[in-house]
Amino acid sequence: MSNIKIGGVGAYLPPLVVTNNKISELVPTNDEWILERTGIKERRISEGENTSDIATKASKLALERAGVKGEDLDLIIVATITPDMFIPSVACLVQSELKADNAAAFDISVACSGFVYALETAKALMKSLDYKNALIIGAETLSKVVDWTDRSTCILFGDGGGAAVLVRDEKQGIINSYLKSEGKKGDALTIGAVDFNTPFASEKNIKNKNIVMNGREVFKFATSAIVRAIDGVLEGTGISLDEIKYIVPHQANMRIIDYVARKLELDIDKFYLNLDTTGNTSSASVPIALNEMYEKNLIKEGDKLLLVAFGGGLSYGATIIEW
Ligand SMILES: CC(C)(COP(=O)(O)OP(=O)(O)OC[C@H]1O[C@@H](n2cnc3c(N)ncnc32)[C@H](O)[C@@H]1OP(=O)(O)O)[C@@H](O)C(=O)NCCC(=O)NCCS
Repeated sequence: MSNIKIGGVGAYLPPLVVTNNKISELVPTNDEWILERTGIKERRISEGENTSDIATKASKLALERAGVKGEDLDLIIVATITPDMFIPSVACLVQSELKADNAAAFDISVACSGFVYALETAKALMKSLDYKNALIIGAETLSKVVDWTDRSTCILFGDGGGAAVLVRDEKQGIINSYLKSEGKKGDALTIGAVDFNTPFASEKNIKNKNIVMNGREVFKFATSAIVRAIDGVLEGTGISLDEIKYIVPHQANMRIIDYVARKLELDIDKFYLNLDTTGNTSSASVPIALNEMYEKNLIKEGDKLLLVAFGGGLSYGATIIEW
């Protein structure tokens, strides 16, 4: 069997629910403002579980549903911008927990577009190296990098993880992808890493290690990037938007999705939305949504879904899958 499909999905959200009212105890904001500007009511925040813990829990569920054992995995890719450490990668930490001793494991950093990029990367590697099973994860503990004194960003983000197991199949389950980046706009959304502060540096380069965002710039980018990605991924496939049962967008902001729905003249119900309860979980948002849809029995075999994401980089992309 030369084709590849999603054989199982799983997700894990930390148990602590943080409501908008709770955030209004930390910064000058209120539930009404946050709900009206973003659509977010609450998010889950980790009390100490790190990205690899969350990724492992999501993965165990996805593996069980796919009927694949850890030792049968040839590949593990984790999309994350909030790894436990630089080394080992989250993928290697997950590999160890799953006893997936036969797998190649690595992380990718594509911010909120990470899961879509990971899906196509895994498909390509499975084909070129003749792998049978792959595990793709989007997992984040964004609460570690949120500036909890900045009301314009701390209201937006949440923690969580989602996973998908890719298996061989007769039909092509991952039909087409469209992946793009606009590095020249990267300043609109940043998280600093290690400072360049050595005895040899000509100039100390101290960066803010929290999320810093130009919300309006990102908003403008997101609305046009989603439309371009949807058009781009459909092009040449012979598939029309009418044949797509659900668009599963990165869950960043309700107003972004509303704008896109109006622009494409689509009913808002065509978009699967859960950002009211998760907030923006970056690379985890699309697989968490897929898991919810699976658990709610919303997707049947043969249904076509269009996954679309955008975020830091700036980056964006879309993938059409058949369930
Ligand atoms: C962040 C975002 C919700 C802000 O909404 P906005 O309508 O652009 O608001 P602005 O930043 O222009 O701020 C408007 C006012 O609200 C205030 N404000 C900002 N955050 C606030 C909050 N949480 N509560 C109350 N007031 C707030 C601002 O200080 C500003 O006040 P001022 O007019 O007195 O200066 C919006 O820009 C957005 O969603 N952008 C996309 C972000 C995103 O999705 N990023 C992730 C992509 S992966």
